[in-house]
Amino acid sequence: MKPLKIAISGKGGVGKTTIMAILAQRFTENFDQVLVIDADPSPHMAETLGITNAGDITPIAEMRELLVERSGKTAGSPFYNINPKIDDLPKRFMLEKDGLRLMVLGAVQTGDSGCACAENTVLRRLLVKLLLTDDQAVLLDMEAGVEHLGRGTIAGVDHLLIVVIPSKSSVRTAMKIRKLAREVGIPRISFIGNNINDAEDESFLQELLPDRLIAVFPNASAIRQAERAGTPVAPLAVNFPTPLDNIMRVLQGEIDNSGTATIVSRGEIT
Ligand SMILES: Nc1ncnc2c1ncn2[C@@H]1O[C@H](COP(=O)(O)OP(=O)(O)O)[C@@H](O)[C@H]1O
Ligand SMILES: [Mg+2]
Repeated sequence: MKPLKIAISGKGGVGKTTIMAILAQRFTENFDQVLVIDADPSPHMAETLGITNAGDITPIAEMRELLVERSGKTAGSPFYNINPKIDDLPKRFMLEKDGLRLMVLGAVQTGDSGCACAENTVLRRLLVKLLLTDDQAVLLDMEAGVEHLGRGTIAGVDHLLIVVIPSKSSVRTAMKIRKLAREVGIPRISFIGNNINDAEDESFLQELLPDRLIAVFPNASAIRQAERAGTPVAPLAVNFPTPLDNIMRVLQGEIDNSGTATIVSRGEIT
C-alpha cells in the first residue's frame, strides 16, 4: 500500500469520528502502521477506538519544543531539519492498541482570539514533515467547522474526506469545506455519505454535491448501540465491507472520486 495522509471533515455530529474509527480499523488490515491523530478540542477518538488509558497520553501540542525551529535549541531533535518517521515520535505522545496508534492534539485553550495557534502550528508541522514509508498511514480526525482548513493547518494532507448526511445544512457545510480545502491546495477531496436510510437519501445528496459519493454508510443500529453502551465502534468495521472497500479503492487511486454521479444501491459504486 502506498502511504497515505488523510483527514476527515464535515459538519458537527455527521459521524466523522465514527467513520474515521471504522476506517482506521480497516486500515490495520492494509497498512503495517496506522496513526490516528485526534485534533478535536474535546477528543473522544480514544473511546471510539477502545483505548481506555487515554489519560496517559501527552498531547502533541506539547511537542511544540520539538517542532519549533529555533537554531541550536532543537538540534538533535528528530524534527529539526529532517523529516521524522512515525517511529521517531516520542512514545509518550502515543498510545497503541491492536496495531492502531493514537495521538491527541490536546485540549485547546481558546483565548479571546479563539485561535489555538500553538496547537495549529504543531499540527501543521507534524503533518507536513512526517515522512511515511509504504504501508504507513495517518488519519486525522478534526473538529467540526473549518478552523483547521482556514488556517491551512492541514495543508500536509493528501486526501480530505468530507462526511455528509442527508440534510441541506450538512451539504452547505460540506461545500464550504470543499472550497477552503481547494484553496489551501489539498490534492484530493472526496465525499462520503452517512446516515443513509434509503435511495432517496442518497439521491438527495447526490443531486446537491458536485462529485459523486465515494461511499455511503447506512444509519446503523449497531453504531447507535455501541454509542449507548459505551463500547468501541472501531470493531464494527467488519459490518461495513462495501463502503470501506470503496473508500480504500479511491484512496489508493484505483478509481477516480469525481465524475458523473451514478446512483446505485447503498454502498455500491459502479
Ligand atoms: N451511520 C451511523 N448510524 C447510526 N449512528 C451514527 C452513525 N454515524 C454516527 N452515528 C452517531 O452519531 C453521533 C455523532 O457521531 P460522531 O462520529 O461523534 O460525529 P462527529 O465526529 O462528526 O461529530 C454519535 O452518537 C454516533 O454514534
Ligand atoms: Mg468527532
